[in-house]
Amino acid sequence: MIIEPRMRGFICLTSHPDGCAQNVKNQIEYVKSKGNINGPKKVLVIGASTGFGLASRITAAFGSDASTIGVFFEKAPSTGKTASPGWYNSAAFEKEAHAAGLYAKSINGDAFSKEIKEKTLATIKADLSQVDLVIYSLASPVRKHPDTEVLHRSTLKPIGGAYTNKTVDFHTGNVSEISIEPATEEDIANTVAVMGGEDWAMWIDALKAENLLAEGATTVAYSYIGPSLTEAVYRKGTIGRAKDDLEATAFTIANKLKDINGKAYVSVNKALVTQASSAIPVIPLYISLLYKIMKEEGIHEGTIEQIQRLYAERLYTGSPVPVDEQGRIRIDDWEMREDVQAKVAELWTEATTETLPSIGDLAGYRSDFLSLFGFEIDNVDYQKEANELVEIEGLV
Ligand code: NAI
Ligand code: NA
Repeated sequence: MIIEPRMRGFICLTSHPDGCAQNVKNQIEYVKSKGNINGPKKVLVIGASTGFGLASRITAAFGSDASTIGVFFEKAPSTGKTASPGWYNSAAFEKEAHAAGLYAKSINGDAFSKEIKEKTLATIKADLSQVDLVIYSLASPVRKHPDTEVLHRSTLKPIGGAYTNKTVDFHTGNVSEISIEPATEEDIANTVAVMGGEDWAMWIDALKAENLLAEGATTVAYSYIGPSLTEAVYRKGTIGRAKDDLEATAFTIANKLKDINGKAYVSVNKALVTQASSAIPVIPLYISLLYKIMKEEGIHEGTIEQIQRLYAERLYTGSPVPVDEQGRIRIDDWEMREDVQAKVAELWTEATTETLPSIGDLAGYRSDFLSLFGFEIDNVDYQKEANELVEIEGLV
């Protein structure tokens, strides 16, 4: 069928299998163009189908010839109905990996559940015996707790008082003021339950209990800090509490891994257009100004550039991993550069519906958003009938 983008609010209801496949190919080409990394060999990526997790899987496989198992939660296609983009991304990844002679299997289901953990552990045990890198890259609005069965919902709210600032509807380009009511204690606890470190620790405990972590294994989860402009709604808001918890969990996990010489890190990544970040108020306006400046400075990166740099220049250099005073890996270093942030802050005061198209990179935002769903990708023929019923080769 002919597939076009169909928008509803911050989501796109359709996705293009050929566009998603081209996105994956482009990421693979990028990683290959940067040369080999003396990196991981057997990798588990939790949240492997889109965003930073997909880039982590691609970098491991095509930068270091790693065997990969990817866990994700995506919608399968049905006749006349497209799959979610992560499904098509994973199908394309598996196909490319197998063509390159690499082991790749995928598990589709709720990573927070005991069932999916057991399935993943069994697959590692049967096929790889152990893993030497575990990437934790989940972004989810909900988590059903595996012990209590309580359904926790995360929120994106300020803490302590209401917050008012500018935001943009990136579809219409309309810049307006938004006020967000402060979180309750329950909101905070729920957000920490979903996006904090408990599930990461559960994964590592389960892997370790079954002796599935290799000697010297590394695990990495992703965090964000950002500037003071967004801190009320991000780092000092409910999601920030979850990130505090995730970052603290890295130390707990590192202690548990001492006997196998294992390491646990949080990597602080750059703000990028993903399905997760598009739903956060204020952030899209910040990103559109940030992109403009970083592109002008020639220091703009997407998820694949970020993760290739994480592996090649932080994790697998052969020297100790450089971290900040709080033990975190920083690949948000270019975003946080003083000159970059000073310019964003200046443009922020000038941003209106009228000025944004010229002072910000609204076009870049929109095009990145559409490309998450496989649209507006070069070298894809959108007039051609596409097959929506794509299967994932290595689905367990
Ligand atoms: P994303 O939405 O692109 O990816 C989320 C992944 O999690 C997908 O593979 C999805 O299938 C999977 N997933 C969601 N719920 C699941 C479940 N219940 N079971 C199994 N898989 C599930 O998100 P993105 O942006 O790549 O985020 C990944 C991490 O990176 C998050 O921790 C996020 O906070 C962090 N991060 C994101 C930044 C951004 O600007 N997008 C910046 C810095 C960090
Ligand atoms: Na991800």
